[in-house]
Amino acid sequence: MTDKKLSYGSYLQLDRLLDSQTLKSTESGNSVHDEMLFIIIHQAYELWFKQILHELDSVLFMFKGNYVQEENLGTVVNRFDRIIEIQKLLVTQIGILETMTPMDFLEFRDLLTPSSGFQSAQFRLIENKLGMHAEDRIQYGKQRYEKFLDEADSKTVLRSEEDDSLFNLLEKWLERTPFLQMDEFNFWISYQRAVEQMIQGDIVRIKKNTQFDDETQKNSLKQYEGIKRTYNALFDKNKYVQLQKEGHRRLSQKATLGALFIQLYRDEPILQLPHRLLTQLINVDQLFTSWRNRHRLLVFRMIGVKIGTGGSTGHAYLKKTAEKHSVFRDFANLSTYIIPRSSLPELPQELKKELGFYFTHGK
Ligand code: HEM
Repeated sequence: MTDKKLSYGSYLQLDRLLDSQTLKSTESGNSVHDEMLFIIIHQAYELWFKQILHELDSVLFMFKGNYVQEENLGTVVNRFDRIIEIQKLLVTQIGILETMTPMDFLEFRDLLTPSSGFQSAQFRLIENKLGMHAEDRIQYGKQRYEKFLDEADSKTVLRSEEDDSLFNLLEKWLERTPFLQMDEFNFWISYQRAVEQMIQGDIVRIKKNTQFDDETQKNSLKQYEGIKRTYNALFDKNKYVQLQKEGHRRLSQKATLGALFIQLYRDEPILQLPHRLLTQLINVDQLFTSWRNRHRLLVFRMIGVKIGTGGSTGHAYLKKTAEKHSVFRDFANLSTYIIPRSSLPELPQELKKELGFYFTHGK
């Protein structure tokens, strides 16, 4: 037993935490004021990454298995609320670093080579646990991303590629969406009619739009051919698989239909939490894209188009990752097939009952 009283400092291990800022410039005999900020901001990021991973791991745990407990869904949504608030902070935090000028940065930048944020193992773990595919990554150099990490980190990150990601688990969960088809009611046939009307309405509007020149009209109509093609594929297994092969879709056809049903009938009590969850995934994805964009703009104003300390093309590499590194794009894309509430096919009474929270007096 220790008789040392717990204090604020000892509980938070502040002696270790606050003793972890070693300035390279000081070591080299010429302290640079802004290097302290540079270290602290990166450390703060890593702490928040740790918290995100803590939340994410608990969500992954709840999604494993063949059945997601209904009462867990509320907790999952709360955990994502927290992740999203942290992400917002991560985006705005960049503003603090922007108070450092490029010239001040140059005072110590060379001392950092060859270290780089590219070697953040926790950042890679977040990406992998969300569901980033290694083959979808923008490569720099001819090496895979984990080759830039030290051996222990590289192993941990590779292991996370093998584990079930949030994307995979959600896909399975969505594929299990009940209510997609009932014996006496095929929802999709009624829905198809409503979407075809909506698409046809847009095509008529494009043709009638006198503001469009020939070229714009031609391109818009072509775009609608694409929409029709992907929409038809929603109901045709082979066409859908073709879209997946071409890289236009990642989520399975069955899961996509499940997600679409949730989006369309979000007002039904039982679908409200699943709908919030799908919206959160879109937020998580977009906030990472916002972070990537904000970070690349920071990099551009700090070092222009010079190469990074990690050896990449710098801004050009980061710009490509902001465009391409997204996991839940298919969920946002569902909006293409959303129809107005007024056009939604009426659900049979029996199904509505199942989708509602039922409370019967005296029972
Ligand atoms: C002066 C400030 C910064 C500069 C000039 C900078 C520069 C760069 C560059 C050029 C890269 C590409 C890899 C390379 O060649 O090094 C990179 C990647 C990265 N940086 Fe920064 N960075 C800065 C601040 C930050 C901060 C505050 C974080 C917070 C953790 C961060 C996290 C990352 C991450 C995670 C990557 C990998 C991104 C990816 O591969 O998708 N950086 N950074």
